[in-house]
Parts: sequence; C-alpha cells; structure tokens
Amino acid sequence: MAERERDEVTGTETTGHEWDGIRELDTPLPRWWLWTFYATIVWGVGYMLAYPSLPLINTNYKGFLGTTNRMQLHQELKEVNTARAEKLQQLENLSLQDIRQNDELFQFANRMGAAAFKVNCVQCHQAGGQGAYGYPNLADDDWIWGGTLEDIHYSITHGIRYNPDTNEETRTSEMPAFGKDQILEPAQIDAVVEYVLKLSGQEHDAKKAEAGQTVYMEDAGCNGCHGDKGEGIKDVGGPRLNDQIWLFGGTREEIRAQIFNPKHGVMPAWKGKLDKATIKALTIYVHSLGGGVGS
Ligand code: HEC
Ligand code: HEC
Repeated sequence: MAERERDEVTGTETTGHEWDGIRELDTPLPRWWLWTFYATIVWGVGYMLAYPSLPLINTNYKGFLGTTNRMQLHQELKEVNTARAEKLQQLENLSLQDIRQNDELFQFANRMGAAAFKVNCVQCHQAGGQGAYGYPNLADDDWIWGGTLEDIHYSITHGIRYNPDTNEETRTSEMPAFGKDQILEPAQIDAVVEYVLKLSGQEHDAKKAEAGQTVYMEDAGCNGCHGDKGEGIKDVGGPRLNDQIWLFGGTREEIRAQIFNPKHGVMPAWKGKLDKATIKALTIYVHSLGGGVGS
C-alpha cells in the first residue's frame, strides 16, 4: 500500500490506492449534500417514532402520534354517515312541503332522488325522465295523474294498474275497447277519431268531426274520462287529448287503434321495494324535473 499523499495539482489528498501509476483523489463530499443527508436520517427516525412502524411480537409499534391515515379515513366516514343518517331521518319525518322549503334538505333529496331514478326508473322513463312510447314524459307540464308533490308521491308509492287485485290503493281506470267489444259502430269510431284530431289541432274531416262530437259527448261518454274539451281528467287518469303530447301516438291510425282496443300502461308500485326516504327523494326529484305543479 502506498502512503497517502497530496496531489500537487489540486492540493487534495489521495486515497493512497494506485493502479499502474494512476492515483485516486479523496475529494470530500460537498457540505450541503452531507447536511441534507443527515437531515433525512433525522427525519426518518422521527417519522418512525411518530407513526406505526416497527413490528413487535404480537402487534406493532403504534407511534407516539397514535394516528394513521386509515384511522382518519374511518373517522371522516363516520362523520359523513352520521350527517347522512340525520338527513335521511329528516326526509322520513318531514312533510314533502317542508323538505321542499328547506334548501339544504331539498338539495340532498334531489341528489338522492336523481341517483335512485337512474337505478329504478330510467329503463321506462329514460334518462332525465323524458319518456318514450307508452311511458310518459316526467319532465314536462303534462300530467296524467297529477303533478303536485302529493300526486307524484302517490303514483310512485302505489303504482298505476299494478296488481289491482292485491293492491287496492293502486291507481286504476280502464278505457273501454269501443271497437273490439262492439260498443260503437264503425262509422261512430270513424267520426270520433276525426273529432280527436280536431281537438288536438290536426287536419281532420270537418263533417265527420261534427258527428264525432256527439259520439264523444253522448254516445260513448269519452268526456267522462277526457273532459268536455279534451283537457284530461286526472282523477281517472284520462290523458289530455287537446294537445300534441301523446302516450300512444297522435296519428289518425294510432288514435283509431287506441279507441278500437286501448293499451293501458302499467307502472310498478314502489312501496315495499324502496324505503320511505327514497320514495320521498324520488318525488322531490321528479317534481323538480321541470313540470312539477305547485310549490
Ligand atoms: C316498468 C316500467 C316503469 C318503471 C320501471 C317506472 N315507471 Fe313510472 N310509469 C310507467 C308507466 C307505463 C306510466 C304511465 C301509466 C299510465 O299510463 O297512466 C308511469 C307513470 C308514472 C308517473 C305518473 C305520471 C303522470 O303523468 O301522472 C310517475 C310520477 C312515475 N311514473 C314515476 C316513476 C318513478 C319515480 C319511477 C322509478 C322509481 C318509475 N316511474 C318507474 C312505467 C314505469
Ligand atoms: C273510463 C275512462 C275512459 C273513457 C270512457 C275513454 N277513455 Fe280514452 N283513455 C282513458 C285512459 C285511462 C287512457 C290512458 C291509458 C294509459 O294511460 O295507459 C286513455 C287514452 C286515450 C287515448 C290515447 C291518448 C294518448 O296520449 O296517447 C285516446 C286517443 C283516447 N283515450 C280517446 C278516447 C275516446 C275517443 C274515447 C271515447 C270514444 C275515450 N277515450 C273514452 C280512459 C278513458
């Protein structure tokens, strides 16, 4: 081994190693690097003592702070769930009007209703409740059974024509099969079809429509379910006929088909399937979709 000596050019000591005449300088580490290095060691030891770290025989060292990210998460979840439980309780106990008027609760119900709608209702009423053939639009002002909070709540709770034999509270009404059951003559049906076209502001045969008015008001009693002017009667779920919104289509053929052998929509009852708070949240949501009646 060679002696440690000073390099003439740099003035730095060499390590004393020599390979074929080449010697290695022993340059000291920069001070800033060294202090950073010591600082990380101190930080590391501190961290190890502060948080759970060393394994012990049956457990592990818990750290003097006594906390972990996992414990913080549990704590935060617990707080969220308590707040949620409180709101759910309020939804269950307060009236629909009170929920509607409480800003915070209204927002909560709306969000909850929107989520429940996506799971339970969109397959029939479509996203946003805009409806489809045979499935009413829930986002407009045209309500078959009524658009107040109470009406909507009732429709959702008890359903429409849903197992009427066992579910006495379900909404029911049956439009007679005027053609199939031969309640009206073919000429009378022709006439009343033209009258419905007239009511809804469409092209029609004026003469037939005049005869059709008599059928509508007297022979068949259509007005008993659809109103004298075709404005609809919500108590019996008779849809409005004097507008352009149709459940089963508004062409001459489609109107004739409905009068000849009517279709009847079925909407499930959600009582028993969804809890009270969820049904109320759905009511608030559907009501706020745009066509809700009253406050
Ligand atoms: C299986 C299909 C189906 C599902 C699922 C369904 N509905 Fe309906 N719903 C209908 C039909 C059909 C009608 C129209 C009944 C009629 O012709 O009178 C209706 C009517 C309604 C009405 C009354 C509309 C009016 O104009 O008076 C409301 C409110 C309603 N549904 C809300 C809901 C909500 C909320 C859900 C989800 C919890 C839901 N529906 C799920 C088929 C469905
Ligand atoms: C006992 C009540 C009742 C009577 C009477 C009745 N309807 Fe209806 N009508 C209904 C109901 C209820 C519906 C909606 C069915 C549904 O929601 O699925 C309906 C639906 C219709 C529709 C389809 C509306 C749409 O939006 O697609 C037309 C058209 C119609 N009725 C015409 C008539 C005419 C014309 C008469 C008389 C010849 C008549 N109705 C008599 C109860 C009645």
